[in-house]
Amino acid sequence: MKAIILLGAPGAGKGTIAEGIKAATDYVHVSTGDMLRAAVKAGRPVGLEAKAFMEKGELVPDNVIIKIVTERLEEGKSDAHYMFDGFPRTTEQAYMLDDVLKSHGGRVEQVFLLDVPREILVDRLSGRRVCKNCGAVYHIRNIPSKVAGVCDLCKGPLYQRSDDTEETVLNRLEVFKKQTQSLINYYEKKKALIRIDAGKKKETTQAEIVSMLKVPARSP
Ligand code: AP5
Repeated sequence: MKAIILLGAPGAGKGTIAEGIKAATDYVHVSTGDMLRAAVKAGRPVGLEAKAFMEKGELVPDNVIIKIVTERLEEGKSDAHYMFDGFPRTTEQAYMLDDVLKSHGGRVEQVFLLDVPREILVDRLSGRRVCKNCGAVYHIRNIPSKVAGVCDLCKGPLYQRSDDTEETVLNRLEVFKKQTQSLINYYEKKKALIRIDAGKKKETTQAEIVSMLKVPARSP
């Protein structure tokens, strides 16, 4: 069991880049944000526990995150290659991930730090729209759907995430700044950190990361 991590501020494009990598490779995409939103939508106990933290833009407690990720990894194949998006976010979570991977003879191979200027992050988050049915992500100007408010893939309605309001966005960016330096130091020491200028077009960033992966892209 091996893993790569997409690390980056809210709006850095982790989910968007992950979709491109998933389409080109055999990495299994695991997004703790998506897992939590699904749990909230389904009214599961873990979702009820997480909801208040998410709405304020605060991190959900480590014990909740560690439980859902451990369960997810236990369901998967032991020789799978995972791509984590939005996880780990604290050093506690990073230690737990190392332990689980090690117990399956694996490790974190590469950590891509998606670097995007703050004004671009705010613009990306305020313009993000998500499909209520299939979760596809758009941006009202940068990556628009063909028909405004309607998903290209499933024709579902597009909505704005409740944590994309201005006040919550500013708090999420602050939380990221506070929590991330220790994670960056942790992965720098392990020589796994790769800095990526992710302020460019999504296709450019996706291609750059795919070219660096240890698991090669599938033939088209
Ligand atoms: P989560 O869902 O992980 O949110 P996040 O980290 O804040 O990241 P986002 O999903 O907002 O952004 P992204 O980087 O994926 O950007 P995207 O690709 O969508 O977490 C939400 C909450 O859950 C947290 O606040 C916390 O409460 C909780 N949580 C989750 N994981 C946790 C954990 N491990 N521990 C504790 N709590 C946890 O792109 C953004 C927009 O930009 C889109 O509109 C997109 O179309 C557009 N865009 C993307 N790339 C480009 C580009 N290259 N050019 C132009 N536009 C672009």
